[in-house]
Amino acid sequence: MSPGSFKTGARILGTGHFLPPLVRTNEDLEKMVETSDAWIRERTGIRERHIAPDGMVTSDMAAAAGKNALDAAGLAAKDVDMIIVGTVTPDMPMPATATFVQQKIGAPDCPAFDLSAACAGFIYGISIADKFIRSGAAKHVLVIGVELLSRVVDWTDRTTCVLFGDGAGAMVLGPGDGSDRGIIGTQIFTDGSLARSLMIPAGGSELPVTHAVLEGRQNKVKMKGQDIFKAAVRNLYSASQGVVDAAGMKNDQVDWVCPHQANLRIIDQVVQRANYERSRVLSNIERVGNTSSASIPILVDENVRNGKIKPGHVVLMCALGAGVSWGSALVRM
Ligand code: ACO
Repeated sequence: MSPGSFKTGARILGTGHFLPPLVRTNEDLEKMVETSDAWIRERTGIRERHIAPDGMVTSDMAAAAGKNALDAAGLAAKDVDMIIVGTVTPDMPMPATATFVQQKIGAPDCPAFDLSAACAGFIYGISIADKFIRSGAAKHVLVIGVELLSRVVDWTDRTTCVLFGDGAGAMVLGPGDGSDRGIIGTQIFTDGSLARSLMIPAGGSELPVTHAVLEGRQNKVKMKGQDIFKAAVRNLYSASQGVVDAAGMKNDQVDWVCPHQANLRIIDQVVQRANYERSRVLSNIERVGNTSSASIPILVDENVRNGKIKPGHVVLMCALGAGVSWGSALVRM
């Protein structure tokens, strides 16, 4: 197959995002834990992150991003026939956050479900949406990545609380139009041997919430940062290269690389290994921190709206998170 002559899958019809207005800076964190702006910027690239106000829930942010994406696509909520919400910070354990999103945007009785793949949740979501659309089983799928991590972060643990932010991003996927625009390929993977490297231990069947559990902060994020760091560099490189190779393309045919915004050093190492020009790698980690499954759709939408990502551009997305689960998607916008 010659480069660029592949059959494409679902098209991205519209993108959107939502960031809560309240910003927490590194200087704010210096007053909460023993840390410094210099350490956080040097080790992660993060300067500030958005925090949802009291009373705002995950599905509020998801619905705002979803509506934003539907508007961009020129579609109404009644046109949606599947809602997939990637999140590890749902409104509640049951029912799915997607059910609240369906109500808040006013979508019809379409299937609406959550997907738990942490930071890779959005890539998993568009991979599934693409399969439904290619098979003809769905026409317009709303895929949302959303996290309200500030509610599950331990604000006394400096090794994790400096990393995360709140936000939501969304894309509406629909059938290809016969042109070469659309999803060229996706790849998704999980290595469960690292499952305990990043987790919220309590709140499930293994460790139900008790007073002792709450006192031990077992209902908050625990992370072996270096294990995740190494897995991220290794797997983000292989998945990014894998999806480009599978398309019969070369890295220099990728217009924009949109990596998961977890740590600028992870991004730099992956980009160096794959030999991408730094000017083609998009990043907003400095302003938003790690928003897990929301990270990629926020980044893509910001750059669609500021005119960098244009129709016809080839965009490579890749993400890794708890599980560890990871994946990549190659799209001609
Ligand atoms: N401020 C100041 N010092 C700190 C802080 C902080 N916020 N956090 C840790 N330190 C200290 C440590 O205690 C340690 O001190 P010591 O040497 O006295 O023991 C020192 O800094 C170095 O700590 P390391 O953990 O070795 O620092 P590292 O360079 O590995 O950076 C980090 C830590 C940023 C967490 C990094 O490992 C990382 O980014 N990991 C990947 C995280 C990630 O990608 N997560 C993605 C998935 S998220 C999801 O799925 C929801």
